[in-house]
Amino acid sequence: MAEANRDQIEFWSTTQGHKWLRLEDRIERMMTPFTEAGLAALGDIAGRHCLDIGCGAAGTTLALADAAGESGSAAGIDVSPPLLERAWQRAKGRRNVCFAEGDAQDYAFRDETFDILFSRFGIMFFRDTPAALANLRRACRPGARLVFIVWREPRENPWVMIPVSAAKAFVELPPRPAPGEPSQFQWADAELATGWLEGAGWRDCRFEPLDIALEMPGTPLEAARFLLQMGPGAALLAEAGGDLAERAETALAEDLVPHLRNGAVILDSACWIVSATAA
Ligand SMILES: C[S@@+](CC[C@H](N)C(=O)[O-])C[C@H]1O[C@@H](n2cnc3c(N)ncnc32)[C@H](O)[C@@H]1O
Repeated sequence: MAEANRDQIEFWSTTQGHKWLRLEDRIERMMTPFTEAGLAALGDIAGRHCLDIGCGAAGTTLALADAAGESGSAAGIDVSPPLLERAWQRAKGRRNVCFAEGDAQDYAFRDETFDILFSRFGIMFFRDTPAALANLRRACRPGARLVFIVWREPRENPWVMIPVSAAKAFVELPPRPAPGEPSQFQWADAELATGWLEGAGWRDCRFEPLDIALEMPGTPLEAARFLLQMGPGAALLAEAGGDLAERAETALAEDLVPHLRNGAVILDSACWIVSATAA
């Protein structure tokens, strides 16, 4: 594993991995429209061999395997043992699915193995993304296709910014990581990311906007609890102790009331669907 990614590996293998599992049902329901959009962008992949990068608990790996069918396959790679344990559980009895524990930046994939590279929010945490993309390119056959779903700028994502504004009143949030640093928004700058892809041997790179309203069933307070656990202030609020987290949740819940529709809080989100072809 790349030593440079040590912090992210630790984060996803411990706190964040366990939190993700606790919230798995909610996350998976909320993320299904992204999977559907990603699969639509791939088109017909019957018989293809797919790699799902940062596969987490395998929601997308299983969807890829279904679309690839018995003559195709889907492999997931992730650094998080707890998430991979869940992935193996969910894939039990499926012959065309497997997983590897490893850092996709420098994992020793067999050369020219995959026809399809896919990732739903699992590609944004490399310290050296150009190196990761070159490693992944080597694992692909010439002409292989890539589809990644990544977030656009924070200002276009009220589902992140509304909770961040509420959390800021209670804890001092860390500054946004510099462009290129591992973060949820690492791929927000399409020009920068196109340069990474082209430098790593990918051509016909396209960044198409994907705007999806995120639906969080339940009360504003339930949505506030969920959003504050997912956001950048989560660890700080938990560490702060006392009733700080509760007060932040109550404040955010009030901000969410205007976004309540038919028993669900609905907030806009903004992504890129990135696509490219292996040169
Ligand atoms: C935001 S989660 C997305 C999980 C999954 N793709 C989904 O949509 O449910 C990011 C995932 O990337 C994984 N990850 C982070 N750094 C990685 C790396 N260097 N190599 C492989 N996976 C990594 C994390 O463990 C985590 O499962």
